Order: sequence, then C-alpha cells, then structure tokens
Amino acid sequence: MSREDMDVDAAKAIFDDHNDVFGWQPRGAFARSHANGQLLVCAAGREVLGFCRFYDRRDGIRKIYDMAVARAHLREGIGARMLGAAGAAAPRDRLAIELKCPEAAAANLFYEAMGFVSLAAEAGKRKRLRVWRRELRG
Ligand SMILES: CC(C)(COP(=O)(O)OP(=O)(O)OC[C@H]1O[C@@H](n2cnc3c(N)ncnc32)[C@H](O)[C@@H]1OP(=O)(O)O)[C@@H](O)C(=O)NCCC(=O)NCCS
Repeated sequence: MSREDMDVDAAKAIFDDHNDVFGWQPRGAFARSHANGQLLVCAAGREVLGFCRFYDRRDGIRKIYDMAVARAHLREGIGARMLGAAGAAAPRDRLAIELKCPEAAAANLFYEAMGFVSLAAEAGKRKRLRVWRRELRG
C-alpha cells in the first residue's frame, strides 16, 4: 500500500472513530483533499496519530473542514502541532484560519486554548455550530 493510501485510510478511520462529533464522509473526500495538498497528517513512523483537512477560500481564509487525533493519543499536543503546521504552511495571502465546531463538543475548549476567537453560533444541518477564527497575519 502506498504512503498516500495509508494516510488517507488512517485519516478516514480516525474521522469515523469520532462519529459522535462528525457526520459521515466518503473516503473519496479524504483522497481528494490529499491529492490537493489539503490533508495534513501527523505520523510516527507508519502510525498516523492525527489529521487536519482544510481548503483555501477565495476570500483569504484557510478553512478547516475537520481535524481529529486518534483516541489513544489525545492530549499529547498533536492537535496543537497540526494547527501550527496548517498555519505555518499557509501561503502569504492567507489572512486567518476559520472553522465550525458543534457547540457541545469538547473541542471548543481546544480552539479557545489555541487562541481562536469565537465569532458566532449558527444552526448547522444537524447541530448548532460555533464559528472560530484565528488571525495569521499581524
Ligand atoms: C480537538 C482535538 C483535535 C484536539 O487534539 P489534542 O491533540 O487532543 O489537543 P492538544 O493535546 O494539542 O491540546 C492542547 C490544549 O488544548 C486544550 N484542550 C484540548 N482538548 C481538550 C479537552 N477535551 N478539554 C479541555 N481542553 C482541551 C488544553 O488546554 C490542551 O492543553 P493541555 O493538554 O496542556 O491542558 C481532539 O480532541 C480530537 O480529535 N477531538 C475529537 C474530534 C473533534 O472534536 N475534532 C474537532 C471538530 S470541530
């Protein structure tokens, strides 16, 4: 199996294992993100510990679709490292990172700890969502 297939499979498996937070996504969504350079994984050798999937909007925002860490490796700083990498690797025209998180998810505490500012809460398809933003410039 190629490294690409391993990363895509592992990201999808970690995503599926957090289905209390996420809805369903096809494997193809992860494969497409990988092909576009928009799937970042944190790995230790062959083991994938976490992933972050994003896309760059036309208005200068790097939008995180979803990110998650393998349950066995929560609270080891992996999420913080992946967020740092997603920001550090962003082209200079990227102004900020934004994402939406279900209001009841513990991950809101993570984004707050990471210096994100809560912009709003809004109705999602299934749950209420909190909108978070962290500036990348200045
Ligand atoms: C959100 C998530 C990616 C964070 O990854 P992580 O690697 O566990 O987070 P880190 O270890 O980098 O945490 C950094 C800091 O954020 C805060 N934090 C992280 N998770 C937290 C939690 N569950 N409750 C409270 N604070 C938390 C803490 O301040 C933590 O520092 P500390 O461990 O020294 O106290 C991870 O919890 C996860 O995969 N959750 C399930 C999927 C999910 O909800 N994804 C986001 C959907 S919007």
